[in-house]
Amino acid sequence: MNQIKRIGVLTSGGDCAGLNAIISAVVEAAEKKGWEVYGINDGTEGITEKPHRYEVLTVKNFSDTPWPRLSGSYLGSLNKGLRIESLEDVSKRFAIGVKELGLDAIVVIGGDGSMNIVSNMSKGSLVKIVGIPKTIDNDTPITEFSVGFQTAVQYCTTSIDSLELTARSHNRAMITEVMGRDAGHLALHSALAGKADVCLIPEIPYTIDGIIKKLKEIKARGRNHAVIVVSEGIRTENGDMVSSNKNMVGEAVYGGIGQYLCSEISKRYNDFQFRVTTLGHLQRSGVPVAFDRLLAATFGAKAVELLAAGEDNKMVIWKDGEVSAASLPEVVKAGTTLVDTEGKYVKAAKDLGMYIGEI
Ligand code: F6P
Repeated sequence: MNQIKRIGVLTSGGDCAGLNAIISAVVEAAEKKGWEVYGINDGTEGITEKPHRYEVLTVKNFSDTPWPRLSGSYLGSLNKGLRIESLEDVSKRFAIGVKELGLDAIVVIGGDGSMNIVSNMSKGSLVKIVGIPKTIDNDTPITEFSVGFQTAVQYCTTSIDSLELTARSHNRAMITEVMGRDAGHLALHSALAGKADVCLIPEIPYTIDGIIKKLKEIKARGRNHAVIVVSEGIRTENGDMVSSNKNMVGEAVYGGIGQYLCSEISKRYNDFQFRVTTLGHLQRSGVPVAFDRLLAATFGAKAVELLAAGEDNKMVIWKDGEVSAASLPEVVKAGTTLVDTEGKYVKAAKDLGMYIGEI
């Protein structure tokens, strides 16, 4: 028998477009079941810190407002900011928080890192957990798509289109640095959609000479401009990371590789002028595209359906055009999904003559 009376919903990790559409879908589906929904503020901190930070959500918060159509997180999120002494301590506080808030289940909207953290934290409590994948990096395992990715790809592609037009006027090669951390999905998808000449991703080694060879070919064919897309997670030719910035928990903050490439390429080749554009956090915002909203709606409804069926420790996924569920421990075990260097997107890039590195 279904014992659920109250669920929590929270967003964890870096934000992206589509989070509010997911929250809205969860609230609507849960309300239909007669459940109360607590929207937990600032990721798991709303549970683990006192006083607990949450608000009771009803469909009125969403159906009567523009929120489901907006990016950002209505609830606030926490990116790599767990101010914890140890997992054991925070798990204890999590279990106490869950009990004090009277939560029977929690819908966690997060990426691979958040799924890992919450899955570990919840081990000492009886609360049921269902995850919904979101991230512009699209590196959450098992699901083919996470909410927010397609909007980010659209933003990057539109930016590449605009950069290509100004490049034409000025005999330039435009280097566009996109996010994605250690996975090159965002760079590769937008490079293919935006018809880039060069795409560098962390999964494939490259050489500056390889890039220059491609630029020379373009010049020899009579084209006066070029487009280079680079994923923030690539290293220098020697394998060094360019950024030395750290986040609150000491992890590297990526960014700056575009500038490195600009100066290294121009030292050896200057038939083009080089300019760098870093798209930055704009990739995480904007109006969520239709496919992200479709994922949000179907994932939100599926998460509630799973909880109503008594399921626990699951993450909803998109596979072969269908919404289904995977076991959360399996997702956590799988780690981060990187670009398949033998896959269809890399193959297409190579077949189309894009320089994608030394493979
Ligand atoms: O994981 C999502 C992401 O946007 C990465 O692509 C990027 O490296 C990182 O978050 C940026 O994090 P922050 O918001 O802490 O700068």
